Amino acid sequence: MTAHVAVIPAAGRGTRMRPATKVVPKALITVVDRPAVQYVVEEAVRAGATEVILVVDLDAGHLVHQHFLSNGRLPGLEHVKIRVVVQEEALGLGHAVWETAEQVRDRSFFCLLADNIVRPGADVLPQLAAAAKGDSAVCLRELTREFLSKYGVIVPGSDLVDGSLDIVGAVEKPGPVLAPSNLGLIGRYVFTPEIFEILGKLTPGHGGEIQLTDAINILASTGRCRGYVAEQDLLDVGTPQGLVMATWILGTSQFPELI
Ligand code: G1P
Repeated sequence: MTAHVAVIPAAGRGTRMRPATKVVPKALITVVDRPAVQYVVEEAVRAGATEVILVVDLDAGHLVHQHFLSNGRLPGLEHVKIRVVVQEEALGLGHAVWETAEQVRDRSFFCLLADNIVRPGADVLPQLAAAAKGDSAVCLRELTREFLSKYGVIVPGSDLVDGSLDIVGAVEKPGPVLAPSNLGLIGRYVFTPEIFEILGKLTPGHGGEIQLTDAINILASTGRCRGYVAEQDLLDVGTPQGLVMATWILGTSQFPELI
């Protein structure tokens, strides 16, 4: 199964990137020669998405819209339908995804968090879609202890076979003591539209926000969610250190003569 629609929540305020994000929205911070969020849109398109829905906050709304939709289309994205949905209140990642329910309707969709960019040549969406086998699936990485309080962590329901497994639950940022495994959610998902119904009924969770991980927990408890363990990590462009690393890796891939 593949999905033809991709949801990209990109409404973060970028507090870890101040002062760069004082005026420029986090999603539009430049990495080499394009805004971070453009890499994520391009990744979705490589996986077969023909429609992309970007969820942005009120301040970023018109700028992101202008980047993708005015003054002629960007090369490679000419035939992609791009829409911008404004999340008016910062109620959490789960709420941001839920805001796209009307546009996605009854279709399965990819969900890609805009803070993370795949390494060149290391796409994960095709494998994720294959692991889903028509249900939902989440992309995972083995985390070291210090990351168990920074990522959502899943409850495994089976052994790993060919890089994928059944999952039976998920907890948002449990920390090392409460973590049910060392497998963390790294910001790439494929969901059946069933997720919207679950999101619509959630109450605030970790940090007082509507958490996507809580919806994954409910979905997983019904046996309709799989996990795919990626072979490489993603590049985190949400912190200054991560941005430097991403710039170097993506830059040297584009300009190998720099090495
Ligand atoms: C979000 C998700 C978390 C996931 C992480 C991946 O957290 O809530 O489950 O592990 O992205 O980057 P955030 O980084 O927005 O705090």
